[in-house]
Amino acid sequence: MKLRTKFSLIVGILVVLLLVVTAVILFVFEKRGLTEDVRAGQTVLAKNLSRVSRDCFLRKDNMFLINYLKTIKRNDDTIVYAFFTDGNNRVFAHTNPSFLGEMLKDAFGEKALRTQKLIYEKRTGSDGEKVLDYAVPVVLTGSVRGIARIGFSEDIVNKNISASMNKIGRRILIAAVVSFLVALAAIFLVSNSIVKPIRLLMCGAELIGKGKLDTKINLKSGDEFAALAEKFNDMSEKLKELDEMKRDFTSSVTHELRSPLGAIETYINKMLDGGIDGFKETGFSDLFIMKNNAARLSRFIDDLLDTAKIESGRMDVDAKFFKLLPVVNDVVELFVPAAKEKNVVIAVKIPKTLPDVYADKERIRQVFINLISNALKFTPSEGRVEISATYLLSGGDFVEISVKDTGMGIPPEGLKYIFDKFRQVKGEGKSVKGTGLGLFIVKSIIDLSGGSIEVKSAVGGGTQFSLTLPIKKR
Ligand SMILES: Nc1ncnc2c1ncn2[C@@H]1O[C@H](COP(=O)(O)OP(=O)(O)O)[C@@H](O)[C@H]1O
Ligand SMILES: [Mg+2]
Repeated sequence: MKLRTKFSLIVGILVVLLLVVTAVILFVFEKRGLTEDVRAGQTVLAKNLSRVSRDCFLRKDNMFLINYLKTIKRNDDTIVYAFFTDGNNRVFAHTNPSFLGEMLKDAFGEKALRTQKLIYEKRTGSDGEKVLDYAVPVVLTGSVRGIARIGFSEDIVNKNISASMNKIGRRILIAAVVSFLVALAAIFLVSNSIVKPIRLLMCGAELIGKGKLDTKINLKSGDEFAALAEKFNDMSEKLKELDEMKRDFTSSVTHELRSPLGAIETYINKMLDGGIDGFKETGFSDLFIMKNNAARLSRFIDDLLDTAKIESGRMDVDAKFFKLLPVVNDVVELFVPAAKEKNVVIAVKIPKTLPDVYADKERIRQVFINLISNALKFTPSEGRVEISATYLLSGGDFVEISVKDTGMGIPPEGLKYIFDKFRQVKGEGKSVKGTGLGLFIVKSIIDLSGGSIEVKSAVGGGTQFSLTLPIKKR
């Protein structure tokens, strides 16, 4: 069942139940109130009758009383009879003139005489008519002077009440129907406000499923749906980044595989074409080029393997105390030919007194290879690369190392992701040589060694990587 149908059905049933219960309660209370009102009106009539009867009886004016009785009977169709008997049960006045002067005595009248206060009783007459009979004794200076009696037809009273209740019932029904219609409209609006964002999210998910990763959902309702939409947008943003990363990865992998392989192939072909004589001429230098390209390939594979190890948490560091200076000098040695070719100076400023660092020597060597090769790669000729290290007592249990160049620098947005794998800063006129794995591996090694790494850079103003490495066992 669809969400909208389910929601509408549940709320609709609840609303109908609520309306029915309310209507029944209203109806019952109305009926009770109406019955009580009728009783109260009857009591007032009976009391008035007793007062008027007393006055007339004292004045011995039964004509006035007879007229009064006629008037009230005419005005109220529920009155069956009304009369007044004196202390001897003789009829003083009656709505039926034929009873005048007769003796009227019954048990109910006797009871009223005894109790000396208003009493009433339901009874069924000989003709089957149900009558509610009121008797009000007229008491003067402590003795009963007569009884005022008035009888109301229960059938007519009930008929009147039913007629009124019919009217009230109709009104309640109209109110219930109107309320139900309003509730229906509200259900429609509310279910819409729930279903609409869900549909939007569904459409968004479908689009993303189809590969439209820049799908964004615009929901500003300020509720949980808006929060969900925001999370959804974050997710699509992440997916897009992952997709870009995948593309970067594929392009750098193909580039890094194809170019050294291509070079090797070209030189092999050249050698084969040139024969023994040709090989004697340039073969040796060609072999060096081939060796370098093979080394580049194997470095790339190593980087990929290292990345896989880091990602699965299997990269372990075999930490020992060692001197930093020889390691750095060793690495710099590797880059001297390339630096000379570019006319870039590589300077090492590490004091011999620097405390031994506690880390994995091979891995730290790898860190310097990556940082110095980057510095050289991104520094144009006549530039300078400087590797320095200091130990400050105030710095605690770490030495601080800096690898600084005077190269092209990194734009601010690039600084956010250069340590991510497969990420390279793409700028105009810059070829995408490399894999974007170097700094990812560097940071992972430094983190695993218990040190830290930061980068400061300004476009055109050079780049400085600042590292710390521990000098104590952890
Ligand atoms: N010294 C530097 N000067 C300028 N840019 C740098 C420097 N070092 C790193 N970068 C930027 O960071 C990116 C990532 O570096 P790295 O992870 O070593 O990848 P790769 O060297 O394979 O491109 C580089 O592509 C480059 O854009
Ligand atoms: Mg690099």
